[in-house]
Amino acid sequence: MAVLVTGGAGYIGSHMVWALLDAGEDVVVIDRLSTGFQWAVAPEARFYQGDVADAPLLARIFAENSIDAVIHFAGSIVVPDSMSDPLGYYENNTVKTRSLIASTIAAGVPHFVFSSTAAVYGTPDSLQPVLETALLRPESPYGSSKLMSEIMLRDAASAHDFRYTALRYFNVAGADPRGRTGQSSAGATHLIKVACATALGRRQEMSIYGTDYPTPDGTCIRDYIHVTDLAAAHLKALERMRAGGGSLTANCGYGRGFSVRDVLDAVKTVHGSAFAIRVEGRRAGDPASIVADATLARTELGWVPKHDDLGGIIRSALDWEAHLMRKNSY
Ligand code: UFG
Repeated sequence: MAVLVTGGAGYIGSHMVWALLDAGEDVVVIDRLSTGFQWAVAPEARFYQGDVADAPLLARIFAENSIDAVIHFAGSIVVPDSMSDPLGYYENNTVKTRSLIASTIAAGVPHFVFSSTAAVYGTPDSLQPVLETALLRPESPYGSSKLMSEIMLRDAASAHDFRYTALRYFNVAGADPRGRTGQSSAGATHLIKVACATALGRRQEMSIYGTDYPTPDGTCIRDYIHVTDLAAAHLKALERMRAGGGSLTANCGYGRGFSVRDVLDAVKTVHGSAFAIRVEGRRAGDPASIVADATLARTELGWVPKHDDLGGIIRSALDWEAHLMRKNSY
C-alpha cells in the first residue's frame, strides 16, 4: 500500500517523504508548489502537482495508486500572516481540508494523519507543560483554522469508516541530519530559521518581538522539536492505525521550553560568532509561553525522540542554510 503525502514539497512534508521511503513505504505526493519546491521531493516518490481541494484530481490519484493512508501537511503556517489574512487561512487550511477529507472518505481510504498545531491552545493558564485536554483557545486565525479541521475530522470519523491521528506540533525546527532536505522557503519567519540566516550573513539583522512577556527573561518561551523526530511520530501514528488503533489527538514536543533569548544565545554559540539583533514590540498573535506535555505520544504511539538537543537542532538548521546559500537557491 502507498501513503499519500499532501504538501510533500514543503518543509515538514519533504522530511516525511524521506522518512517513509527510509521505512520502505511506497509514497505518492501532491503539492501545488505554491511555497514548496519540486526538487525537495525525493525522486522515488510519485509526484502530482495540484491542489488538495481539486476533487477530480484526488479521485484520479486514489484510482491510480493503492493508497491506505493520507498524511496531510499542505497548508499555511505563518501566525502573523493569519492575523492579516484570516479568510485566506480559513480557505487554505479549513475549507480545503474539508474537501480533502471528503475525497479521502469517498475513495474508501481509512487512515488520515493531520498536521495540527500547539496554536490551538493559545496561552495556557499556567507555565506547566500543556496536555491535550487543556482548554482550546486559539489566539490566531491560524490556530482556529487548524482547530476547525480537527473538529471536522472528529465528526467525520464518527460517521464513517475512517480513523485519524491529529498531531499538535509545537515549534518545529532543524533539518534532515543527512542533508537531503530542510526549511527552504525564502520568506520564512520562524525564529531558528531567521536566526541561522542572520548568523550566516544572509540577513543584516533580526528582531526579537517583545521583551515584556511574563516569562523569566521577558521573551516568549517555546518547545522546539527536531523535524526528524516529528516525522518519526507520524510513522508511529501510521503504524498504530494500521494495527487497528482508534482516532487520537497527541502533542508533539519535548516538554521543555526555551526563550527567544535562549535560542539566539544558542545560535551564537553553535555558529561561533555574534550577529545583529534589534528589540521590537510584541508581534500580534504570539502566546507568551507554550510547552508540550507529550506523554500521550510516548505511551500511545510509542514515540521515542532521538534529537532532543537545541544545539543539534540549530547545527542541522545552520548546515541546511549554508547549503541553500551555496546553491544560491533563494
Ligand atoms: N520571533 C522573534 N523574532 C523572529 C521570529 C520569531 O522574536 O524573527 C519570536 C516570536 O515572536 C515567537 C517565537 O520567536 O515568540 C517563535 O516564533 P516562530 O515564528 O518561530 O513560531 P510560532 O511560535 O509563532 O509558531 C510556531 C508554528 C506554529 C505552532 C507554534 C506553536 O508556526 O505552527 O509554533 O508554538 F503552532
